[in-house]
Amino acid sequence: MMNSTTARTDKTLLLLGGTSDIGRATAKAFAARGWSVQLAGRDLDALGREAADIVARHGVPVTTHAFDVLDTAAFAAFADGLPCLPGVVVSVVGRLGQQALAETDLDHATLIMRSNYEGPTLILGLFATRFLARGTGTIVGVSSVAGDRGRASNYVYGSAKAGLTAFLSGLRNRTAKRGVHVVTVKPGFVETAMTRGMPLPKPVTAEPQEVADAIVAAVERARDVIYVRRIWRVIMLCIRHIPEALFKRMKI
Ligand SMILES: NC(=O)c1ccc[n+]([C@@H]2O[C@H](COP(=O)([O-])OP(=O)(O)OC[C@H]3O[C@@H](n4cnc5c(N)ncnc54)[C@H](OP(=O)(O)O)[C@@H]3O)[C@@H](O)[C@H]2O)c1
Repeated sequence: MMNSTTARTDKTLLLLGGTSDIGRATAKAFAARGWSVQLAGRDLDALGREAADIVARHGVPVTTHAFDVLDTAAFAAFADGLPCLPGVVVSVVGRLGQQALAETDLDHATLIMRSNYEGPTLILGLFATRFLARGTGTIVGVSSVAGDRGRASNYVYGSAKAGLTAFLSGLRNRTAKRGVHVVTVKPGFVETAMTRGMPLPKPVTAEPQEVADAIVAAVERARDVIYVRRIWRVIMLCIRHIPEALFKRMKI
């Protein structure tokens, strides 16, 4: 594996969640465009295999870094220990969890909330402060359409994603005039490990590669909030406008 100490900061990607299907596709999409990559996650062996694959395919510098989104006390040391401050940080970290279990098991509910809201917002906020000090940088948070309106089937996960979406909106508002851009990604359904075995409707389900390409395009074009398949913007607009008195009786 190559080391990226000499990599250009502005073309270095930090990928938080480097073992995920969407994360791996995103890292490769940036690497294919000549970016150096810092892969971070819990499973260093898996990250090492992924890094070797990226180097073999694209010949760019790749480093791997231990990162646990629940270990907030280690965030500052993690950021300062990177070979360089990246130009772009993408967080795909998340945990769907089990809604039914979360309704009775407070520890499980807490894990979902911390994995999707507390951890991702705190680490992205920490990089935002460093990017603001430098005067450049792009922050990308992968949220979810589940955060657009709470539903019985997944409102613990959905409410954590709603918090992430709101945080990213506020962060964008704080940094917009100071050289730092914030992108919120709402993928809709995606065929990944997270959704394996679920009966996802094909026309509204994306592949990880599609999400990766959408993220690269959003960074290049400085987009604010993207729905990976545009149909999701329309679907969620309709769902958001259903009156609560009716919505609470529906099963969607
Ligand atoms: N798939 C979909 O339909 C869909 C739809 C909307 C949004 N999303 C979002 O897209 C993102 C990527 O999900 P995916 O579909 O690619 O599923 P995934 O493969 O399950 O990815 C989840 C990632 O989060 C990481 N993670 C979980 N807890 C962590 C922790 N404590 N510390 C560090 N990393 C942790 C996982 O790492 P480990 O390998 O160590 O577990 C994994 O890399 C998630 O934020 C998800 O909520 C997915």
